[in-house]
Amino acid sequence: MKELPSSSPVRQDHAAVESRVVIGAFIDMYRTHRSAANDVFCDINGGVRPWRLFEFGDQQWFPPILREAETAYLATAYRVFPVLARGWAERIATVLPQGEPAEILDLCSGSGGAMPMILGELSKRGYEVRAKLTDLHPHPKSVSHAQIEWLTEPVDATQVPPMLTGVRTMFSAFHHFPPEAAQAILRDAFERRRTICIFESGCGTLLGVAAMFWVPLAVLALMPFVRPFRWAYLLFTYLIPVIPVTIFWDGIVSKLRVYSPQQLQKLTAVLEAPDYAWEIGQIKVGGLPDRLPYLLGRRVP
Ligand SMILES: C[S@@+](CC[C@H](N)C(=O)[O-])C[C@H]1O[C@@H](n2cnc3c(N)ncnc32)[C@H](O)[C@@H]1O
Repeated sequence: MKELPSSSPVRQDHAAVESRVVIGAFIDMYRTHRSAANDVFCDINGGVRPWRLFEFGDQQWFPPILREAETAYLATAYRVFPVLARGWAERIATVLPQGEPAEILDLCSGSGGAMPMILGELSKRGYEVRAKLTDLHPHPKSVSHAQIEWLTEPVDATQVPPMLTGVRTMFSAFHHFPPEAAQAILRDAFERRRTICIFESGCGTLLGVAAMFWVPLAVLALMPFVRPFRWAYLLFTYLIPVIPVTIFWDGIVSKLRVYSPQQLQKLTAVLEAPDYAWEIGQIKVGGLPDRLPYLLGRRVP
């Protein structure tokens, strides 16, 4: 058969079709395996795999100044990226009682995270909400806000004292809990018929993990704007750069641990009752490469 010259429009059309097919195949392959990272690092049927990676922020020996730097950096990052808080507030609004004041009980609050912005977003939508912040390592000086109260005693998210009422929220922290503990958190909310809202600020897909490679640069850019300001943050960012390194490592590991919607379904599958409903989905946030998994659990009439 006579070969077409490379400049022939027919041959160029063939090349274009072939490259679209190849790109399409890659996209399909990516879609099929997008939760592969979760499945490798987190076996929700058989418990924690022996090679589950550690996060510095989870270690008892990790110096408080570095742990606070991590969560203070997160709170600052939320401020420069407000669409995230908006997306979360939109979902929280769906579980709040309309026309009456509500209280949020935030678990694993770190340095307060996006709570001031979330309360602002809820207020714009007509909800009057107060928030109680809690953590295993409370950081009460991290936020000063009229509608926010910090509980100074440590609160373990896996053993929430029953007298702490309110809509339970957890942001960027559910991945810290291996499957058994994660399920215990959901079970407690389910058995006490409390509303619970779980959100993550990243996802365990390949793109989600790849996006973490910007984080060291973001830390270098944002650390001077972290509040409350501490000279130690600058010392350990620019002179002895442990803060960018530990935040980068914990960022990568946390994305690998984030529960995918399918895994969240498995965690809630045994927690079924006619008067309690789970909603599991993904939030599309402009500027982020992939959708963010979320879970809502609430009593239904
Ligand atoms: C990645 S930070 C997230 C902080 C905050 N929610 C945010 O979005 O910025 C995770 C937080 O979970 C807290 N934490 C880890 N294990 C916990 C537990 N068992 N109970 C309560 N808090 C815990 C850590 O102390 C840390 O402040």
